[in-house]
Amino acid sequence: MMSGYIRYHGLLLPPVAHTMKSLEFAQNFAVQDSDVFAVTYPKSGTIWMQEILPLVLNGGDLTPIHTIPNWDRVPWLEESRLASVVDQLVSPRALVSHFPYNLMPPSFSTSKAKVIYVMRNPKDLVVSSYYFHQMAEFLEDPGTFDEFVDKFLEGRVLFGKWTDHMKSWMNAELGDRIMYITYEDMLQDLPAAVRRISNFLGRNHSEEVIQKIAEHCSFKAMKTNTMSNFSLVPKIYMDNDKSHFFRKGIAGDWKNHFNSEQLARFTSVIQKELEGESFSLPWNM
Ligand code: A3P
Repeated sequence: MMSGYIRYHGLLLPPVAHTMKSLEFAQNFAVQDSDVFAVTYPKSGTIWMQEILPLVLNGGDLTPIHTIPNWDRVPWLEESRLASVVDQLVSPRALVSHFPYNLMPPSFSTSKAKVIYVMRNPKDLVVSSYYFHQMAEFLEDPGTFDEFVDKFLEGRVLFGKWTDHMKSWMNAELGDRIMYITYEDMLQDLPAAVRRISNFLGRNHSEEVIQKIAEHCSFKAMKTNTMSNFSLVPKIYMDNDKSHFFRKGIAGDWKNHFNSEQLARFTSVIQKELEGESFSLPWNM
């Protein structure tokens, strides 16, 4: 297992994809008005939105989904691949990012670029992250689940505290440039979620196109799409024998992992950190 994160504005990032050069590239990135960003805290449904976005933007043409690996199709703003593929991206460009709002490049603020912020119940997210740390060899060993819960609550994990990330984007005041959606909304009714995204991006696709996109972006379809399921990634980086990236794809798995003491600790820390905020969480904590 490789380890040793880099620190950037107080956030821990894995060096395999993030370098000082890539972070500088992100800061100097010239955002275009037609750009669309899928932004998430890790394990909230990033790869899912990464699959949906280009299909909504191109009207349901599956060609890119079947020919280009997702990390080049919809690159990460903060990762080193961006510099090598940026010239091949056609407008309207779709990008993903785990950045909190304050780390977005200055050109983002002055642009009309849009953001879809995907959120997930933090109890499920921490479970998903725990298993991801076991299979992603570029991440530090998560330790026991109990230890990992503490690390998560203290922000000693990738991209820092979940509550800070939420606060930054929930208070971003981007008006009609931002759409908020939950992982659970997408699970409950994927066609409805795709319809909302399509309307948000001014596409207003037909029901036929919406259904086609939703079908392609189901857990089952994505899990078998080699351009999206990370099977092209060498085992030294992601070891599918330990856990799968497409692990369960459900809501409520936290009930199989948290004991009552962990649950009480988790809930009290999250509630305390969000005290006084003007937004409320879309889940019962
Ligand atoms: P689980 O580990 O709970 O299964 P991210 O892309 O932000 O890293 O999030 C990964 C999580 O999203 C994983 O959760 C993964 O299974 C889930 N996921 C990815 N695509 C999905 C889909 N089409 N439907 C449901 N869940 C999906």
